[in-house]
Amino acid sequence: MAYSEKVIDHYENPRNVGSLDVKDDSVGTGLVGAPACGDVMKLQIKVSAEGVIEDAKFKTFGCGSAIASSSLVTEWVKGKTVDEALAIKNTDVAQELNLPPVKIHCSVLAEDAIKAAIADYQKKRGLTPTVKADTV
Ligand code: FES
Ligand code: FES
Repeated sequence: MAYSEKVIDHYENPRNVGSLDVKDDSVGTGLVGAPACGDVMKLQIKVSAEGVIEDAKFKTFGCGSAIASSSLVTEWVKGKTVDEALAIKNTDVAQELNLPPVKIHCSVLAEDAIKAAIADYQKKRGLTPTVKADTV
C-alpha cells in the first residue's frame, strides 16, 4: 500500500513525541486503542488557565498512519481552545493525510485520543465533561 507524502513526513519526522507530567492537573491524558488492529495511542494536552491548549505530546504504538495521525493532531490542537480541539474530526485528519479507506480507523484513533485527553483534563479539574470518551 502506498503511503501519502504527508504520512511519510510525519512518520519520519514525528512532531511532539513524548510525555507530559500526568501529575500536573493542567495535563489531560488520553489513552485509546483500536480494536481492529490492537494499536495504542497516547495523547496528552496541557491546558492554560485561559483554557487554551499550550502543549501536546503523543506516543503511539502502531502503524505509520496512526503515528502520522497523532503527530498531526498534536500540531493542530496547540493554540486551540478545548472546544475548538473537540471540533477536530477524524475525517479532517484522513483528508489531510490522504488516508486510504483501510487506514481510516487510524484517524479515528486520533480523534478519540483528543476527546479522551480532554475528558481526562476536565475530570481532573472537576469540570463537567463535554464528551464521554471511551478509553483502553
Ligand atoms: Fe497495527 Fe497497523 S495494524 S500497526
Ligand atoms: Fe490500526 Fe493504523 S492500522 S491504527
